[in-house]
Amino acid sequence: MAEELILPESADRAELYAALLPQLAALVEGECNRVANLANAAAVLHTALGSLWTGFYIAEETSLVLGPFQGPIACTRIPLKPAPKGVCGAAWKQRQTVVVPDVDAFPGHIACSSLSRSEIVVPLIVGANVVTVLDIDSAELDAFGEEDVAGLEAVCALLARDWDQAATAANDGLN
Ligand code: SME
Repeated sequence: MAEELILPESADRAELYAALLPQLAALVEGECNRVANLANAAAVLHTALGSLWTGFYIAEETSLVLGPFQGPIACTRIPLKPAPKGVCGAAWKQRQTVVVPDVDAFPGHIACSSLSRSEIVVPLIVGANVVTVLDIDSAELDAFGEEDVAGLEAVCALLARDWDQAATAANDGLN
């Protein structure tokens, strides 16, 4: 397992994700604990992107519940019923990545931090279900582009691929 994250010197986002993916794959390979894998994924992305907040919300029956994250404290539950709330709820419902260039222009945005200016939420889809969403907030307006969508969707596909192997008793709280 890698002990140190190696980042390219270039600021090119596509290159960054190309460098991150194999390192993240090596980190989660052979580890069946979902909390551990999501925690390392949050750390990798937060370190590499330098965002304000990076983390996961885990889908339960009636809400998205705060999972592993890096950054300031955040809201613990985002309602899914009777209607999904916030950017996270929108991505969960649409089963698609949602990019918000200006959070003030997104009706229903949930402001966990007043410093957040833009946001991207990527669903982690396993079979027919969105089991988790990856949420990244930036203090800059319009911080996320096409390279981020592609790179972060690849990260979520990697995490989703091993999701069903992650079934130890320690994970029951995430099911
Ligand atoms: N802004 C999110 C809520 C989560 S925090 O940003 C960490 C939303 O509108 O769903």
